[in-house]
Amino acid sequence: MISVLFVCTGNICRSPTAEGVFRHLVMAAGLEKQFHIDSAGVDSYHVGEAPDKRAVKIARSNGVTLDEQRARGLKPEDFATFDYIYAMDGGHLFDMQQHAPDEAKNKIQLFMAAAGLGEDDVPDPWYGTDADFEKVFNMVDEGARALLHKIKETHGL
Ligand code: 4NP
Repeated sequence: MISVLFVCTGNICRSPTAEGVFRHLVMAAGLEKQFHIDSAGVDSYHVGEAPDKRAVKIARSNGVTLDEQRARGLKPEDFATFDYIYAMDGGHLFDMQQHAPDEAKNKIQLFMAAAGLGEDDVPDPWYGTDADFEKVFNMVDEGARALLHKIKETHGL
């Protein structure tokens, strides 16, 4: 089992989108039995909430459902549980590197960088418009496709 965690601030916009898109791609590849996919937020303001309606809408229009997800906070044990931990922006990367035990630090990567797509942050769309959510979706979709390709290669899938 390959376990993958996506992490953002509130776990209601970027990381649920990444979780939903990545799961959609894994299912399309028939690999769902080989993956454990989850997401979390470094802040706990939105714990228990469904994903933001704007994120749900753009995902749905691309055939991706976020409906089953509820926000949760990042837990210390996540650093042991997950094989790959992806920070949606540099703030989350810094935050997790501060808190992770030494043996887990190499699991934590910036999402776009891990996908081989540069050092860009996936920008926080919370105060933004539908266009900002569309930009997030498109970045996440491109990143998730590249990541799955890399992970499949690494694990011989
Ligand atoms: P996310 O977006 O980190 O992509 O889920 C945010 C959601 C809420 C807040 C910030 C970012 N907030 O400050 O409440």
